Amino acid sequence: MSASSIVYFDSAGAKNTDAVLDAVLERLAKGGIRDIVVASSSGATAKKVLSSLAKAKVNVVVVTSHCGFEKEGECEMSKEMENELIASGAKLVRASHVLSGIERSVNRKIGGSSRVEAIAEALRALFGQGMKVCVEITVMAADNGAIPCGDVEVMAIAGTDAGADTACVVRPAHANNFFKFQVREILAMPRVR
Ligand SMILES: Cc1cc2nc3c(=O)[nH]c(=O)nc-3n(C[C@H](O)[C@H](O)[C@H](O)COP(=O)(O)O)c2cc1C
Repeated sequence: MSASSIVYFDSAGAKNTDAVLDAVLERLAKGGIRDIVVASSSGATAKKVLSSLAKAKVNVVVVTSHCGFEKEGECEMSKEMENELIASGAKLVRASHVLSGIERSVNRKIGGSSRVEAIAEALRALFGQGMKVCVEITVMAADNGAIPCGDVEVMAIAGTDAGADTACVVRPAHANNFFKFQVREILAMPRVR
């Protein structure tokens, strides 16, 4: 494949969402992508992605945070939003966050180092929050069976707290074979974190 341009943002955050979607559409037009994974806590970013991809023939997988992430017993995405996204053709994945999981509880309780959280921190430090989330949600979607996994390329979209500021094309992997994961193309990312 020939060289492609990367969209760089001066800072991270939701204000970059529309520009990320433009980069996603541009890459989709080049072909080869049939699955898109997007992080969406409230559903707002997923709705934007679904409306901008309305004409595209792609499998859109929305990965949302696990219930209790913000507040014990509560799910960030409402049932109404879940139903709306599914009615628009998306698949919804809600699962324990694979790059923190139960390790976070062990850390909080007794401290020490978590190798899983070290992977997350390395991705955050080197490439930003959005890239860490792109990797995490793709593994979660693969483990859920919502995307194909193996010698395929899928697109991932995520951001910093809310919205989207990062998009990439990746070779997915399951959690039990994480080091098969490859980031093959960066489409958009913040330069400064
Ligand atoms: C599984 C999951 C993990 C996430 N982890 C982080 C994180 O570590 N750091 C961060 O800044 N945002 C994180 N996010 C936020 C997303 O990257 C994205 O910006 C957000 O889900 C968009 O939500 P919205 O639809 O409400 O705008 C995470 C979201 C999900 C669903």
